[in-house]
Amino acid sequence: MMLGATSKLSISRSMDEWEQYFAENPAPRGYDISCAQLEAFCQVHVNRNPIALVTSGGTTVPFERNTVRFVDNFSAGTRGAASTEYFLSHGYAVIFLHRDKSVTPFLRHLDPRFLLDALQEVPGGLLQLSSIHSAQVHPIWQDYQRVKSESRILWLTFTTLSDYLWLLRATTQCLQQRAPKALLYLAAAVSDFYIPQDKMAEHKIQSASGPLTVTLHLVPKMLSPLVSVWGPELFVVSFKLETDEKKLIEKATESLRKYKHDLVIGNLLQTRREEVTFVTEKESSLLRLMEHQKAEKTEIEKLIVEEVVSRHKNFIKY
Ligand code: PMT
Repeated sequence: MMLGATSKLSISRSMDEWEQYFAENPAPRGYDISCAQLEAFCQVHVNRNPIALVTSGGTTVPFERNTVRFVDNFSAGTRGAASTEYFLSHGYAVIFLHRDKSVTPFLRHLDPRFLLDALQEVPGGLLQLSSIHSAQVHPIWQDYQRVKSESRILWLTFTTLSDYLWLLRATTQCLQQRAPKALLYLAAAVSDFYIPQDKMAEHKIQSASGPLTVTLHLVPKMLSPLVSVWGPELFVVSFKLETDEKKLIEKATESLRKYKHDLVIGNLLQTRREEVTFVTEKESSLLRLMEHQKAEKTEIEKLIVEEVVSRHKNFIKY
């Protein structure tokens, strides 16, 4: 990738910031195990299936080291979980980096109370699914078993912003090294603000001290090193969430110009289930569910993934 003098300067400035972030925030528990799993997953799939990293859910920013309170980023994880299923149906191997306890592929189709309602006792004291519920679960179970038997999904979880960023960097670097034509599909909602370790309280903040004033510091924009340093050859798709329609295309275009990745998918909080806008260097195009698709309960992620897969296939060719 060729960069002008100004962009090189701004990247080297932000490199200091992101390196400092990692120096100050320790790796999550189990980090070495996650790295080993990533290596093994990439090695198995690199010559077998296209690989995608899907990030999903919101990051938390703790107020205390022994965390009682935190601020959260909005995201249920529906976009990431649904998209993962569609990537799998297109033959991809997916690294699903998601917020712990957020929406997950396959299970998302079942109500949490489902199990207790669906089970019935049979002779011998065993429990089994009723025939109606069996019919409902069967296709989901089959899809899941197929993916599992082919080891085509790697589940990685995060809770805090720091967990997420460590795992995002590790995954990107691993893909760059092992599968440089891989796709990054960054649907997670990532905090722009945090409390540095040295400014964070050790124990639960006490209300007896009166009203609480908290200063949140800016998180370095990690898309910058991600695109230019960790994974310069990967196909990078980021999402941009806004609430003001007038700002969406402007902010998505700005993100693309700044980080120079492949595609930004803009969405509005209010309409994100029905429409998104694809923004590239050359064009911006609206993708919207049609009335008959809404009636058939087609998910917008099906259309998004079809379009992303087609663009990624083109990218792989060259
Ligand atoms: O999960 P759902 O409820 O279904 O909702 C899906 C969604 C609306 C969350 C999803 O479609 C979406 O828009 N995700 C991105 C939301 C977001 O956080 O946008 P942002 O403006 O904060 O970030 C834009 C990009 O900058 C992201 O690719 C992010 O990874 C990146 N970023 C953000 C913060 C940061 N410190 N560094 C970054 O590089």
